[in-house]
Amino acid sequence: MKKILITRRLLRACEDKAEGIFEANLNLNDELYSQQKLVELSEGCDGILSSLTDKLDSETINKLPDSIKIISNFAVGFGNIDLDAANNRGIAVTNTPDVLTDATAEIGILLILGACRRASEGIESARQGGWKWSADYLIGKQLTGSRLGILGMGRIGQKIAKIAKSLGMIIHYHNRSKLSEDKEQGATYHDNLKSLLSVSDVLSVCCPASKETVDMINKETLEYLPKGAVVTNVARGDIIEDEAMIDALDRRKVYAVGLDVYKNEPNLNPGYLKHKSAFILPHLGSATKDTRTAMANLAIDNLDEYFKTGNCKNKVN
Ligand code: DGY
Repeated sequence: MKKILITRRLLRACEDKAEGIFEANLNLNDELYSQQKLVELSEGCDGILSSLTDKLDSETINKLPDSIKIISNFAVGFGNIDLDAANNRGIAVTNTPDVLTDATAEIGILLILGACRRASEGIESARQGGWKWSADYLIGKQLTGSRLGILGMGRIGQKIAKIAKSLGMIIHYHNRSKLSEDKEQGATYHDNLKSLLSVSDVLSVCCPASKETVDMINKETLEYLPKGAVVTNVARGDIIEDEAMIDALDRRKVYAVGLDVYKNEPNLNPGYLKHKSAFILPHLGSATKDTRTAMANLAIDNLDEYFKTGNCKNKVN
C-alpha cells in the first residue's frame, strides 16, 4: 500500500476513501503545517495530497524525501507549488480541474452582483436597522446592458460569461488565444489587456496566477478601465496590486470591488476593509459540499492513477 500525507482535513467521507486506498497520514486537527513540519511528516511517504494553504516553494520541495513522487493539489490553482523545483526533483504535480467550475463561477457572479449592487453596505444597514427606503437609497449599478470583461476565458470564465449573458450583460474577453465560436458564445475577443479593460464596465479576473499574471492589474493597467468600473477577482489575489486598487477606490476611478481571493491570505490588505464599496468574501470559490467532495475524490484518484500508471491526466508539469 502506498503511503501518503494529507496536509489538511478533507470531508470525512473523502478521508475514508483515501484510507481505503492508501496508508494515509491524516491531519485530524487541521493544523496549518509549517514548511519544516510538512517535510518531516513526508518522511517515508510516496505522495502528498496538498492544499492551496501549503507553500511548497523551492526550498521546501528541495528538502522533501526522495520517496515523494507526486504532489496532488486539492485545488485547480497550483500557484502554491514551485513547478520548476518539482520538475527538478522529478515530482509530478496534479490539480483538480472541471469539478469546481460551477461552484466557483457562482461565486464569481455573486462578486459581480455584490459589488455592483452595494451588498456590503446593504447588509450592514439591514443589520444595524434605522434605514429608510427612499427613491435614491443605496442605488447601485445594474448589470443589464453593461459590458463584462473576462480576463482568462477558461472553464470558469466561460461559465461566468454564460450566466452573465443570461443577466443581460455583453461579454468581452482576453485570453492568450481566441476561442472557437462554440466556446465564445458570442463574446468579443480582445488580443490585449488594454483593449479588454477599456470596454470593461465590470471586470472579472478568472486567469491563473503565473509569473506573467502577477500584478497584471496595477497602477498603469487600472487606468485603461472606464471611470467607475467594477473589478472582481475569483482567481488569485496575486493578480491584483492591492495598493493601486485601493488608491483607485479612493479616487473613485474604481466604483467597487468584489473579491474572494487575496495576496497573503488570510491577511488581506486592511485598505479594503475601510471601503464600504468592497464586497469581500473569505475564499469561498469551491466551498460547497458537492464540489469539495468531488475535488477531494479527484485529488485521491490523481494519486491512485499516478501510482498505478506512472502518469495522470491532471498532471500539470
Ligand atoms: C482552487 O481550486 O484553486 C480554488 O481557489 C479553491 O477554492
